[in-house]
Amino acid sequence: MNPLALLKSRFQPSLAALVPDQARVGELLEMIRPAQDAKFGDYQANFAMPLKKDLGQPPQEIARKILAATDLGDVCQPPEVAGPGFINLRLRDDWLTDKLNQAVHDDRLGIPPAMAPRTFVIDYSSPNVAKPMHVGHIRSTVIGDALCRTLRFLGHRVISDNHLGDWGTQFGMIIYGYKHFVDRAAYQAAPVAELSRLYKLVHQLVDFHESHRAMPQVQERFARRAAELDQLQSQLRTGGKAVDKKLSQSLTKLGQQLHEDREELAALQAKTAAIAADTQLAALAAKHPNIDQAVLAETAKLHADDPENLRLWHEFLPNCRDEIARVYRRLDVRFDYEHGESFYHDRLAAVVEDLRNKGLAQDSQGAVCVFVDGFETPMIVQKKDGAFLYSTTDLATIQYRMETWRPDAILYVVDHRQSEHFDKLFAVARRWGHANVELQHIKFGTVMGSDGKPYKTREGVAAGLESLLDEAVARAAQVVAENDPEATLSESERRDVAEVVGVGGLKFADLLHNRTSDYEFSYEKMLLKSGYSATYAQYTYARCASIFRKAGVERDVLLASAARIGLTHPAERALGLQLIRLSEALAETSADYMPNHLTAYLFDLAKSYSTFFESCPVLKAETEDLRASRLLLCDLTARTIRLGLELLGIKVVAKM
Ligand code: ARG
Repeated sequence: MNPLALLKSRFQPSLAALVPDQARVGELLEMIRPAQDAKFGDYQANFAMPLKKDLGQPPQEIARKILAATDLGDVCQPPEVAGPGFINLRLRDDWLTDKLNQAVHDDRLGIPPAMAPRTFVIDYSSPNVAKPMHVGHIRSTVIGDALCRTLRFLGHRVISDNHLGDWGTQFGMIIYGYKHFVDRAAYQAAPVAELSRLYKLVHQLVDFHESHRAMPQVQERFARRAAELDQLQSQLRTGGKAVDKKLSQSLTKLGQQLHEDREELAALQAKTAAIAADTQLAALAAKHPNIDQAVLAETAKLHADDPENLRLWHEFLPNCRDEIARVYRRLDVRFDYEHGESFYHDRLAAVVEDLRNKGLAQDSQGAVCVFVDGFETPMIVQKKDGAFLYSTTDLATIQYRMETWRPDAILYVVDHRQSEHFDKLFAVARRWGHANVELQHIKFGTVMGSDGKPYKTREGVAAGLESLLDEAVARAAQVVAENDPEATLSESERRDVAEVVGVGGLKFADLLHNRTSDYEFSYEKMLLKSGYSATYAQYTYARCASIFRKAGVERDVLLASAARIGLTHPAERALGLQLIRLSEALAETSADYMPNHLTAYLFDLAKSYSTFFESCPVLKAETEDLRASRLLLCDLTARTIRLGLELLGIKVVAKM
């Protein structure tokens, strides 16, 4: 039961009857919100004030008029008009208890499946294989998984698809590396580790030569700008030019550009110097002067079905996939499909052909481009050398998904840095004929370190996802040990709990931020026992479970009995209200694809439970009925937390 939605539906007809402009009704209904402070009731409706102008009446009067026309008697206590025209709404206790008693006897906790189920394709995780997965990938994986689980629970059809980068230049790199630098014994013993080494090595060499080649260009640009600045400054000194706003702006701009050039040069120099200082690497770099071109050529050969490169690709790919599958198992993430980029290779030529036939694509400077209104640069779908691009594959992917699953929506859970790619992709796809599908870039920000820069592990490379998980679990093990000084848990139980707390902590810490913002990574915050963390919610669950153990009551027996939830204490009522609001949190999460509504809800629920627990004795309740009622509240709290966490992909344990 969603109380907020119910209240809105009750006010809808009375507002519609009163307001001259029907288009405003929706926005006015949005002004019914949970009350900030319990002393103003449970919900507040603030739409009377903005209607003053439209209706030419005092807001208090408008509020009273609307209330007189609104049927609320079965749901709310007689509403109050307060201050300048606020409507304070308080749910009736009998209504609330009724809904709680229904929820406690329902496997879905009183949340009905969607009346109009939609079909979603969710494209998430999607790492480039053959490169180690890093902390950025955890965001896509964890957010995407939470959205899949939540939308599925709400009754939608969800198809999860991991759009693996399994066909890009990184394969050119490992093919080149394999052909020139492989250590056979190492490859036999641990293929993925050896492939990673080869990837890293080739990447370094390519970087070295590219940096080397880029340097004169940057130097030349730097010199040109420095001269320009010099000239402007001398004109100023000799009075040949007046200082006006425009001039001072160009001076600042030039200064900035010079600063950037200087930084870029320093970075290029540092990169090449590091390699030059390593005698072995320097010798390899000298022996492979055209490695960047050669890598592109290996990739092109792979795409042109060269038998040797294709054979190597088929040999490497399963190893690379096993590697990421291990991480997915640990994260408890499964995909319905893992159609990587390679899956679409055969469709790309036809996509370009079709775009041409429909008059959308045209030749431009040797490349095939789609020009879209509102974008400075066109979308290139085929390069001069015939190669297809990331965008071409994404168009083929949309076509395939539409043909195969006919979705109502396709969600792409991808880093915000790809915003422009997706804006353009969606614009082209709509013109191409896919106008009736909701295409959404579910963008997310960067994970930052405490130094304000993108998060790195101690070694300074982008954090490997597995080492991150290991560290979180190791720290969770400490928390578990501290919390269990009498060692009531066995060694193996402790290990299991640490895994659930560590992995859950990491996921929750990622989900609790508004996904569009950057956030600072912190192991400490992630495992706070009474903070905004999975650990706090997991503790609350374990506490409820422990009460049942101590009570010596089986919950099935309790549920089968005549016991009912009653609300006698303000802390009970506050907990009951919070429990009933689960469906509001789920509705918000699915409306804007933001799982942080659900994490915030669970945090508030854990807090409400904690207040309840402090003020309302359960096992020592005054009467049998009260004891049973409070046990039922504990049961509903436990199941709500378990469900909420499960929808975020996080597990619970009965003891911790
Ligand atoms: N492999 C890409 C990357 O790591 C992300 C792919 C996202 N999905 C998509 N359909 N483009 O940057």
